[in-house]
Formats: sequence, structure tokens, C-alpha cells
Amino acid sequence: MGGQSRFSKNIICIGAGYVGGPTMAMIAAKCPQYKVTVVDINAERIDAWNSENLPIFEPGLYEVVKQARGRNLFFSTEIEKAIKEAQIVFVSVNTPTKTFGEGAGKAADLQYWEKTARDIIRASDTDKIIVEKSTLPVRTASAMERILNANDKGIHFEVVSNPEFLAEGTAVADLENPDRVLIGSQMTETGLKACKEIVEIYANWVPAQKILTSNVWSSELSKLVANAFLAQRISSINSISALCEYTEANVSEVAGAIAMDSRIGPKFLNASIGFGGSCFKKDILNLVYICESYGLHEVARYWENVVLMNDYQKRRFVKTMIRTMFNTVAGKRIALFGFAFKANTGDTRESPAIDVTRQLAEERAKVVITDPKALDNAKMDLQSCLEFVEFCEDPYEAAKGAHAIALMTEWNEYKKLDYQKIYSQMEKPAFVFDGRNILDHKLLFEIGFNVFPLGRVPLTHL
Ligand SMILES: NC(=O)c1ccc[n+]([C@@H]2O[C@H](COP(=O)([O-])OP(=O)(O)OC[C@H]3O[C@@H](n4cnc5c(N)ncnc54)[C@H](O)[C@@H]3O)[C@@H](O)[C@H]2O)c1
Repeated sequence: MGGQSRFSKNIICIGAGYVGGPTMAMIAAKCPQYKVTVVDINAERIDAWNSENLPIFEPGLYEVVKQARGRNLFFSTEIEKAIKEAQIVFVSVNTPTKTFGEGAGKAADLQYWEKTARDIIRASDTDKIIVEKSTLPVRTASAMERILNANDKGIHFEVVSNPEFLAEGTAVADLENPDRVLIGSQMTETGLKACKEIVEIYANWVPAQKILTSNVWSSELSKLVANAFLAQRISSINSISALCEYTEANVSEVAGAIAMDSRIGPKFLNASIGFGGSCFKKDILNLVYICESYGLHEVARYWENVVLMNDYQKRRFVKTMIRTMFNTVAGKRIALFGFAFKANTGDTRESPAIDVTRQLAEERAKVVITDPKALDNAKMDLQSCLEFVEFCEDPYEAAKGAHAIALMTEWNEYKKLDYQKIYSQMEKPAFVFDGRNILDHKLLFEIGFNVFPLGRVPLTHL
């Protein structure tokens, strides 16, 4: 015990990914009185967390990790040992969409989650609080409690839900100053006691009025609903971008006008190539599946359309490219500026750029991909069409000899490039398809580009 007694709580997190790593680093940085250990089956990932090259890119994350690592923050593959010593076990393993069997393509695949439950039973010899940090279907806590408490060691496990609302790219700021922290528990004596323990952790830096407690089902469901609502705003404005292109309305002006209605507000109203990331699509499809399983088919269809609209937007973008480039892109070099699903992350999971690249490869275009942080992930995502793809760190090189640039990710640096120089090195007529509406379209047009924004009249010399 010796070394551990100086810590007032022993917390671990199973799963050292985009959520487990940053979340625990923040807890450790804010609470030096707790010992925080993050464990994972992936040794390479753990090694990276222990190095100067963290396994994920997040602005400000390295500084937070460095502050606590070795002091009260530890990354390890010794899962059993960590579980045994912990009082509180956060579980932040991946919960992807099921790809096989019942519910394939929609339901959440809970195999990793259930495996951790079995690891917890095996390694434990004292009561523990198990915290659902992963995003899970509503009522998972009930199944988990049944599995965990079926142990024959007489140990009591209390499952609470504490979904994570951080956004990649701003994870550190979101964790430091969250809009809210949600903790759901059973309304029993042990449930409420466990809830209080978790509240106590966040109360070290989050103001009391931002820490919400609820019943465990509301907490589980709120995470799915938050993602569904956020994605729905993107699909809503994207559907309007299609209409704008036919009516000469400007989607940015429309968004600006509706955003000033305080009931609507300005966020998540930028028309774009579509949403990506590991969560929105999988969480909505999970919501759809849950609704279907309760016979709520109309509710299921309503939310499913958010995903269908997103697919439509990506297809529409590629169709516009092909149509404007004289109905063929075969053999044409097309530079994709950005591959990450959003700026300030190297994460490419469900990035719209993946679908766009695959569709262009099917049309036999030569796709050249550049991105400041995501090229390694892009290479893994595009294994199936590598013969049509090239990777290039320098955007100027990527655009050299290209017929078109398609802007996929809203990296700030793409706004600042010398487009005059880029234009001079491209094939003519040269096209820009701005999938995020971030470039200076008028300037690009004046340089000589044919410019195709989303939801606005194109500026062309043709
Ligand atoms: N990425 C986000 O922005 C975000 C935001 C909020 C919530 N979430 C949710 O958080 C959860 C984790 O997401 P993520 O993006 O961090 O996933 P991730 O894939 O980056 O990380 C999950 C980690 O869990 C590890 N793991 C899997 N099974 C394990 C086991 N049995 N024992 C130990 N480690 C195991 C994997 O090796 C991996 O490193 C998901 O449920 C996701 O929906 C993600």
C-alpha cells in the first residue's frame, strides 16, 4: 500500500483513446490528490501516451499530460492490477456500430464493453463504482449491473453513467470548462452514494451549477440525443444548401439570418460537405435501432433521415465536381485539401473525405491528399483504393498539375495559402470546390479559378 496511501481516491480508466486519455489527464491535472491510471490492451497506444508523441493530436493536451504524468497520472497495460487497486473504474472503450448479426449496421457493438465487465469481475476483490464513460444505448447500465453483480465473490458493483460531451479539436478547453457534467445513477442509497463520489471529482474544478445529476437512463439517453440534435442541425442547413444552389439564395446569408433568432442561435449552422467523426453517425443509428426495438418506427425514420441527408450531401458534392469538370474526372489530378473530419484533429473516422476519395477513385480520378495532421490515418482508411491515391504533406505540391482543389477540412492554414502561386501551377481551367465555405471565393475567382462553394452561386469563367 505504502506509495498509494498519499492519494485520497484511486481512479482508473479502461480505454486510452480520444476520450479516456484527455478526460483522465484533465482529472489528474486538476486533482493531484487522486491517483489516476489509464489502461489499455493496446501497448503501442500506452507507449505513445508515455512518450512525447501522444497517440492523438489535441491542442494543449501535451501540456496537461506533462503536468500530471508520473506525479498522479499513469498509463499502463497492467489492466488487472489497476482494476484490483481502484475504487472507481471509468470505462471508455470503443462502442462502434455492429457490423454483424442482429442489428448489423445500426446497433452498438457492446463486445468491448462487456469484455471489460468480465475483466472487472475477474480482477476485483473489493466493491467498486463503475462509470460508463463510453456512449452506450439507453438501459445498458441495467444489463451491466446484472452481469457484474452475478459474481460469486460477494462484491457489489454500482454502475453510474457519466457520458462525455467533449468535442475533438477542442477537447482540452471542453474538459477544462464544460457546458455541463452529467452524472446518472440509480435512485437507491448505494446509487446516490456512488453519484456523490463522482460529483466530488468534478467539483474540484467545475462549478456546482454545471454538475447535473439525473437517473441513469436519462443520462445514457441524453448523450445519444445531444449528438442527434447537433448532427440534425448540420443536416438541416445542408439540405437548405442544396435548395440555395437552385434559387440563388446564399446559404451563409440564410444561416446568418436565422441564427439571429435567439431561439435558433448561431452554432452548427455552417453548410458543409457533411458531418464526420466517430460519434454522430453511430450514435444516431444506435438511437434509430433503439426506437425500432420499441416499435417506434416513425421516430426511428425521423432520426435516420439525419444520416441519409449527410450521405446525400457527400454524393451531391462529388456529382457537382464531375458535372462541372465536363462530366469526367478520369485521369484528372484532384487535390484534396484536408482529410481529417474537422480541423485541429488528426482523427479521420467517418470523415467525409473518405467517401469523396472513394467516389473519385471509382471515377478513376488521381486523388492527391494533403493534411497537416491526418495523413497517417488517411493511408489506413484508403487501403482499398491506393492505386488512385497519392499523399503529399505540402499543399502547393499537392495542387501542382491538378485540375481541381476540393477543400475537405476547415484547417486555418488553407485560408492563408498563396492561391495565385497555386493557380499558376495548375491545369486550366482550374476549379476550386469549397466543401467548407471558408475560402475567399471572390479573390479566387479574380485569380482565375472557377469557384464552386456550397449553397451559393458558383463564380465561373466558363
Ligand atoms: N471521440 C469522441 O469525440 C467521443 C466523444 C464523446 C464520447 N465518445 C465515446 O467514448 C467512447 C470511446 O471513444 P474513443 O473515441 O475514445 O475510442 P477509441 O477507439 O479512441 O479508444 C478506445 C480504446 O479502448 C481500448 N479498448 C478496447 N477494448 C478494451 C479492453 N477490453 N480493455 C482495455 N482497453 C480496451 C482500445 O484499445 C482503444 O484504445 C465511445 O463509446 C465513444 O462513443 C467519443
